[in-house]
Amino acid sequence: MREARITAPGLARMKRERRKIVMLTAYDYPFAEIFDRAGIEVLLVGDSLGNCVQGNDTTLPVTMDEMVYHCRMVARAARHALVVGDMPFGSYQTSIEEAVRNAFRLVKEGGAHAVKLEGGDRVADRIEAITRMDVPVMGHVGLTPQSVHRMGGYRVQGRGERSRERVFRDARAVQEAGAFAVVLEGVPRDLAREITAELRIPTIGIGAGVGCDGQVLVLHDLLGLSSEPPPRFARQYVLLAEIAERAARMFAEDVRDEKFPGDHESY
Ligand code: KIV
Repeated sequence: MREARITAPGLARMKRERRKIVMLTAYDYPFAEIFDRAGIEVLLVGDSLGNCVQGNDTTLPVTMDEMVYHCRMVARAARHALVVGDMPFGSYQTSIEEAVRNAFRLVKEGGAHAVKLEGGDRVADRIEAITRMDVPVMGHVGLTPQSVHRMGGYRVQGRGERSRERVFRDARAVQEAGAFAVVLEGVPRDLAREITAELRIPTIGIGAGVGCDGQVLVLHDLLGLSSEPPPRFARQYVLLAEIAERAARMFAEDVRDEKFPGDHESY
């Protein structure tokens, strides 16, 4: 029988029992329902929706209202999965009070069970304050897309000795601040493996090799829903964009040839 609801402490148990954690992004009811049915443990309402749903170049324009809107759709569909709402750029940086207020919004209005925010020791006080208010926090270190301008692009982090130390320090800071899990994005696999071995909390990798406690992919990369080729670290399991385009072309042809609607599709 399936566990009723995946919880933050349940993920820690999975790490202890060496069971891999599977996380996918979801942004609406139908895909959240499919992924939940497939037994995916964590549904992340990622601010990556800024790229793959809204068509922006970065995640930076995403607002709190938009995150709440998408969280609500995903939370309605999730019967089993833990729903994590991403805190968008500008929603937690300005002050601790603002960070706590916006975390509450994702839970109260969006129905999220937990929130995620980017950064290590520089956001540790936010993580501590939010978790103290009973909202579980997932950290996110390494390549943090909201820092795109500081990083000078989406670059793998932790390659040199100093950068490696910084990623390690950030991961430790996130754990010490009370996060229940941490995303390791765009870091060398040996570094991710070392961090995973040291931390008590689960690590969830994206572009971080197989040694993490779990893996996450963006829905559009998994399902081949974007016109761009997927990033190197992603695996495309199906090409839904092609299937959808074929269906649209077939419909258009039927309409133009007056083959749609047929008798049984008419009143
Ligand atoms: O926004 C997002 O989808 C994410 C994942 C890539 C981890 O942060």
